[in-house]
Amino acid sequence: MSRKMIIAGNWKMNKTPSEARAFVEELKPLVAGADAEVVCCVPAIDIIPAVEAARGSNIVIGAENMYFEEKGAFTGEISPDMLVDAGVTYVILGHSERREYFAETNETVNKKVLKAFEHGLKPIICCGETLTQREQGITIDWIRQQIKIAFLGVTAEQAKAAVIAYEPIWAIGTGKVATAEQAQEVCGAIRSLIREIYGDDTAEAIRIQYGGSVAPKNAGEIFSQPDIDGGLVGGASLKPEFGQVVNWK
Ligand code: PGA
Repeated sequence: MSRKMIIAGNWKMNKTPSEARAFVEELKPLVAGADAEVVCCVPAIDIIPAVEAARGSNIVIGAENMYFEEKGAFTGEISPDMLVDAGVTYVILGHSERREYFAETNETVNKKVLKAFEHGLKPIICCGETLTQREQGITIDWIRQQIKIAFLGVTAEQAKAAVIAYEPIWAIGTGKVATAEQAQEVCGAIRSLIREIYGDDTAEAIRIQYGGSVAPKNAGEIFSQPDIDGGLVGGASLKPEFGQVVNWK
């Protein structure tokens, strides 16, 4: 089975609504012929202008986070219905910055994953190890634990639509990209785990991205690995060079 590549930008806390609109307009012609799904995951307040600017193009808009309750007294949170109504397709869940600065855990990520599927949103589920964990040789165990918990209660049909982003924390925003071998090793282990849980069909369908200092100069080597189906791109997704990452072939 051939999986469609998915290249997603993660804007993090960057770009105002008017900058978002202008950037999506600028990006449209740069990615128009892409042989991959092109996603921009943007701050909540940028979603509506980004969706409007992307209309009629091959760019789809994602969110960077979402809460696991339907509605109510959760000041400052964004619900799944709000995202769906605004035109969002994908939602990043469990990014390492959310885990580190906003106390997200494997358990809250799991609740969010289940809620996203309930509303037809496709989660981009993040996992990744620290440098200490890598040096201790526990990377694969750690990632398996993160993924096992994130997928508790998720059906095989749902899992097929999920995206997993493997992002070694030591490679995020540091310019220290993992080698293609390191990235492939972990992404291959993630696919094996999905095979253990759900079987071959789901393992072949699910898309696994690499993230961490992806840039035009390293995208080709990483994206051509057999178990890597695209990337989650931070810094390089904020500039027109995102078009080069998308057109890596
Ligand atoms: P980076 O961020 O590409 O700037 O390293 C990736 C991410 O955190 O998703």
